[in-house]
Amino acid sequence: MSSLLDALGTLRVATDGWSVEILDQTRLPHEIEIVTLTTWRAAAEAIVTMQVRGAPLIGVTAAYGLALALHADPSDEHLEEAAASLLHTRPTAVNLRWAIETVLARVRPLSPSQRTEAAYALAAQLAKSDRETNHAIGLAGLEVFRTLAANKSVDKPLRVMTHCNAGSLATLGWGTATAPMYLAHQAGLPIHVWVSETRPRNQGAALTAWELGQAGVPLTVIADNAAGHLMQHGLVDVVIVGADRVTSAGDAANKIGTYLKALAAHANQVPFYVAFPGSTIDWTISDGVRQIPIEQRSSREVTHQVGRLASGGRAEVALTPEGTAARNDGFDVTPARYITGLITERGICPATAEGLRGLYPEVASNG
Ligand code: MRU
Repeated sequence: MSSLLDALGTLRVATDGWSVEILDQTRLPHEIEIVTLTTWRAAAEAIVTMQVRGAPLIGVTAAYGLALALHADPSDEHLEEAAASLLHTRPTAVNLRWAIETVLARVRPLSPSQRTEAAYALAAQLAKSDRETNHAIGLAGLEVFRTLAANKSVDKPLRVMTHCNAGSLATLGWGTATAPMYLAHQAGLPIHVWVSETRPRNQGAALTAWELGQAGVPLTVIADNAAGHLMQHGLVDVVIVGADRVTSAGDAANKIGTYLKALAAHANQVPFYVAFPGSTIDWTISDGVRQIPIEQRSSREVTHQVGRLASGGRAEVALTPEGTAARNDGFDVTPARYITGLITERGICPATAEGLRGLYPEVASNG
């Protein structure tokens, strides 16, 4: 993994023992800025503005947001107000709901004086287990990479395509889709990653390119629109992406543009994998296209772009004629039939209800 990113971390408790420091992802890749959160409202704002982003990381940030709320006032009213607001910060990634419900289940039965410490301890546990979970996802994904690489001529790297940032930056370490890339690189399995830019927020161009580059993983950024063309010309061996919500039947919501990649992969017989932890599965729904809420974001993210000027400053520029209407769906859903396999911390399964039930028998029988 990237040693710089490893040293910085995406989120940690500050030395005062209660405030929370985050790496501000809206400043990357050109500036490294650590922001300190001291209130649950600041944690909520960091999620909304995408200073922190990625399904697992927003879940853990929300857990710490509840800890911050309890630190200020451990009453029932304050806890419930913070939980309800944090829950509505971003609608698609189900890890957010999962993390908030996990903390609420732990602290609600406690007396107010016991709640703060319990919330911090649980948030820390969620953070630690996210890292371990992603490492396990990486080991499972590495086996997929090894098998695909074994079928190639030895002198060529495995050409992996990814979309958005399902990387260390989106988690507490390793990432989901990137975990097998880091492990392959460490193990000396040659890989090369096609990183699609991921308009309009450019998480691929700005974040995935930054973190893979820091770790020395060979990569090339492509325009989103180039993905199908590269697959058609035999230049992609496997596509691997993350997920924000996976239904009990294996449909997967991920960053807008993922579905188009899955269609192109299907049409060109390129294996298409989705990597995610169990906390990304929404066992209450089965039809992703109809039931997963899709975040609608500001049209300004489409009509304008933020970047670094040649002079070094940061600036926003307009792309479209003034006043042009734009629509900005943040995510799309890839139906299970286009997914070759689901890569989880418990191993790999087909993108089917039976496949997921086989990996998570305990949750499936409760849900
Ligand atoms: O809008 P974002 O940047 O939060 O979207 C992130 C993604 O779509 C990731 O692929 C997903 O959250 C998985 S992160 C391991």
